[in-house]
Amino acid sequence: MKTDIRKALLELFSSTETEFVSGQAIADHLNCSRTAVWKHMNALKEEGFLVEAVRNKGYRLEQNTDQISENELYLGLKTEVIGQKIVYVEETSSTQLIAQQLLHQDTPEGTLVVTNFQSAGRGRLSRAWLSEPGDNIAMSLILKPKLSMQQFPQLTFLASVSIVAAIKEVVGIEAQIKWPNDIFIAGKKVCGVLTEMVSDPEEVKAVIIGMGINVNQAVFAEDIATIATSLRLESGEKQQRSALIQAILVHFEAFYQQYLTEGFSPIKKYWEAHALQFNKNIKARTLKGVLEGEFKGITDDGVLLLQDAAGEIHHVYSADIEI
Ligand code: BTN
Repeated sequence: MKTDIRKALLELFSSTETEFVSGQAIADHLNCSRTAVWKHMNALKEEGFLVEAVRNKGYRLEQNTDQISENELYLGLKTEVIGQKIVYVEETSSTQLIAQQLLHQDTPEGTLVVTNFQSAGRGRLSRAWLSEPGDNIAMSLILKPKLSMQQFPQLTFLASVSIVAAIKEVVGIEAQIKWPNDIFIAGKKVCGVLTEMVSDPEEVKAVIIGMGINVNQAVFAEDIATIATSLRLESGEKQQRSALIQAILVHFEAFYQQYLTEGFSPIKKYWEAHALQFNKNIKARTLKGVLEGEFKGITDDGVLLLQDAAGEIHHVYSADIEI
């Protein structure tokens, strides 16, 4: 359905709240026939809106059904590059794979792949990322900046700060980041970020930033219920996924522009200001054993700095952090 017609329809139903609107009133509003109204309402239904049609009363549209669609995401999106191309798929094994395929078709920088259900999501360190269908956000963003190999990991940190800023704006909760890039609320994980580079022997061609956010999931499997949470559980309210995605894209674009002009320093500052256990004691479980000490921040490569009791600074490249 053309975006302007859809917008007019949604505006009409927003202003009438839960009232029924007669077919004639809609036809007058859109300046079209009753048959065209019927077609438009059917198109909305196909897009996932709950449309109630009652004889002699008209139509009622259930709002906040929390559907995601390309239209839903484009509508009112205030970015110039990030998310200006959106590929929505109802179901996929992993949005990372779709993003990789799109790169073969020379998709532009800022392309976003979003799904309603991801059946084989991938996490860091080859772990699985599980997500309930219809409740959460699983998306992958494609970037093609001209950066050195060493700078690329910085983009993961950029993604984390964008998500934290968006959660603050949309949900009103100050989330924290657990190194390297898990987003936490009240001591539980609400989001994970996975960055994958696509390169040939000469250069990095693109980077795909995968973001998985538990938004409206109300129940978690017993084995992860103590460590995972959702925005709904933490805020006590259902959240609109499309609003959150749009906010992430807007914040990402702002941070990205700042990053390209001013470098990593402002991102690092924001990241450290939201880092869980910053300047506090942590345990880093590495392949070589457990390191204990004060978390002193990150280097420009995203390496964790840990100061042990003797004052020695350790560079931690890969570890599970215990808090
Ligand atoms: C982690 O916490 O280990 C990172 C999880 C990243 C999950 C996201 S969901 C969208 C994208 N597609 C995937 O298969 N993984 C990422």
